Amino acid sequence: MKRSRVNEIILESDEFIRSFGIHLPPFAYWSPQQLVDKKDSISALIDARLGWDITDYGLGDFASLGLVLMTTRNGSLDDLRNGSGMCYAEKVMISRQDQVSPMHRHITKAEDIINRGGATLAIKMFESDANGKLDESATVRVATDGEPRELSPGSVLQLQPGESVTLLPGNWHEFWGEGGDVLIGEVSTVNDDVNDNVFQRPIGRFSTIEEDVDPVHLLVSDYENWL
Ligand SMILES: [Fe+2]
Repeated sequence: MKRSRVNEIILESDEFIRSFGIHLPPFAYWSPQQLVDKKDSISALIDARLGWDITDYGLGDFASLGLVLMTTRNGSLDDLRNGSGMCYAEKVMISRQDQVSPMHRHITKAEDIINRGGATLAIKMFESDANGKLDESATVRVATDGEPRELSPGSVLQLQPGESVTLLPGNWHEFWGEGGDVLIGEVSTVNDDVNDNVFQRPIGRFSTIEEDVDPVHLLVSDYENWL
């Protein structure tokens, strides 16, 4: 993906998020130079990979296969292992109409996926088999806002604004905006996007960036090169 397109998507995303009356934290607006200047005092932010994540899953077709994420808080894997401390994370995400976040599961992370507003959030789901592979015959058991649900394998759960689903490790899921763009919230255990995503197809997790212009804001995947 070209850097100029990443810059546009961040501006479009900020406008979309603001249209719901939601305001992002200050670091969402820091320039690359501000991040560089602050880097010694913000190692916790850098290590937790807070910030923008615009992904096309490395396939170069953002409109069909992509997701905008802003990680607003993220705890520590050490705290999670020790069972005490900052064991949680939060993201704001945007799925555009018919823009798929491809089928995956998590190894450790449990996540509530919340439709915060906009169109319908469609989530296709499967269970895992004993080896963690997608099971095409097992009934999917999840909770939606405290209500247990049993779904046939591969069925699509439709969440309206305000509704959410709790996905546990082993719940395979793929989601997209249906009938329009959706503002999504994610409340989860500590987030480790480098190691905790298992995709059904062999795809990447981050975009490959073609540097045609300067970045307006860095992506979390830029931090290791810049900071
Ligand atoms: Fe997920």
